[in-house]
Amino acid sequence: MAAAEPHLFVVFGATGDLTRRKLLPALARVTTENDVGANLSMLGVSRSEIGDGDFRRWARKALDDAGADLTDWSDDRVFYHASPEGTSDLGGLRDRIEGIERDLGLPGNRILYLALPPRVFPGVIAQLGEAGLATGPGWTRLVVEKPFGRDLQSANELNALVHAHFDESQVYRIDHYLGKETVQNLLAFRFANLLFESAWGRDRVESVEITVAEDLGTEGRAGYYDSAGVIRDMVQNHLSQLLSLIGMEAPHSFDDDAIRTEKVQLLRSVGTIAAGDVVLGQYTAGTIAGEDVPGYRDDPEVAAGSTAATFVAMRLAVNNWRWEGVPFYLRTGKRLPRKTTQIAVTFRRPPVCLFHGVQDDCEAHQNVLILILQPDEGFELRFDVKAPGDPLRLQEQPLHFGYDEAYHSLPDAYETLLLDVMEGDQTLFVRADEVEASWSLHTPVLDLDLPVLEYPAGTWGPDGVDRLLGKARPWILREG
Ligand code: BG6
Repeated sequence: MAAAEPHLFVVFGATGDLTRRKLLPALARVTTENDVGANLSMLGVSRSEIGDGDFRRWARKALDDAGADLTDWSDDRVFYHASPEGTSDLGGLRDRIEGIERDLGLPGNRILYLALPPRVFPGVIAQLGEAGLATGPGWTRLVVEKPFGRDLQSANELNALVHAHFDESQVYRIDHYLGKETVQNLLAFRFANLLFESAWGRDRVESVEITVAEDLGTEGRAGYYDSAGVIRDMVQNHLSQLLSLIGMEAPHSFDDDAIRTEKVQLLRSVGTIAAGDVVLGQYTAGTIAGEDVPGYRDDPEVAAGSTAATFVAMRLAVNNWRWEGVPFYLRTGKRLPRKTTQIAVTFRRPPVCLFHGVQDDCEAHQNVLILILQPDEGFELRFDVKAPGDPLRLQEQPLHFGYDEAYHSLPDAYETLLLDVMEGDQTLFVRADEVEASWSLHTPVLDLDLPVLEYPAGTWGPDGVDRLLGKARPWILREG
């Protein structure tokens, strides 16, 4: 991959929360750990009427608060441009960008990062195009934060607007799950290890479960969340990414478009999700780790009587040669007992039970592979061994790998993603047709008239959630 060339990193929404908490610390790490240093200059753009000096101080404080290593951070390369809301002409911004590039001797490579509320994406994208900022003397890359659209129609409209000004090869749609090291490892795990890949499909796999559990609630974002709900907030983006990576076919090469093409194929293979395959929930007051927490509707920003779902579990059918007949279960929710992201692949039972008279129930243990994406990243493979001694007895044992035992620390998702934008690698960004495939799958679910069942905070969702699995067994989760 090409190294990061000298460029101007233009952040829209420069004084916002995302910039302060995520982008600035990640930029500082990119400069110190990846030799990007002097190749990065930054221009913050927002409504606040402040100058370069104020912004530099504000950025330093944000970086200090985040405990960032500032060895290679230079204030002289940080600039600010005020662009009051409602300004429909970004010509002033273009002049500013060109002025900075002249002064610093930059070749005109630009990253335009929209760290903005989604409602303003369309206006800003159109203005960038009209101001002639979609192209420049060097390369120009547009980074769009999530959520990308609210449903299929709005996502398609946004894609059309983006493509009216930018080529798809310039567009980097963020899903921060793709920047997580362990999410990327799904590809290595699957395609570098023939052992698992040869068992990956309907001949050997009985079911796949994806759990993304959060113990936190809406954390001051209830205003946004109440109009979004869990399907828009988590499923259409993050869980769809996990689903496509765990289920996709091998790409013809490790090339960004080859990988993304296979992910889209997988999403397009998923059958229509019926009402009977979905359980929605909303948390009420409860207790998590010994602490009492209020219910979702107790938040003053939540509309009275809101039926926004904070939990969903669903069963999907992937109708392709590899997965036909293997159910994929997805569940995610807020205010569950703990934070964990895991994928459990349950393998079929041996075709013949040789251990009658040894085990009461020959069906007791199946091999299960659990990929633990966060926290305690690693995996666990459960298999049967003969317990020592007589009489012959089978016992399930885990084989475990932990990232923290093998490696000290994992890079932050934003650091990975920002470096990839700088290097022009689109692999970890969502392509237009991928967004469309995901919304095509989930928009009909938003339109289903489903009850939203209550669950107390600190539980694994509403009672109805087990019916998706039948009464055969509980959801699989590695204890943390
Ligand atoms: C965000 C959602 O995209 O992902 C949040 O908007 C959610 O509601 C967050 O809490 C979860 O991300 P992570 O990295 O903590 O699993």
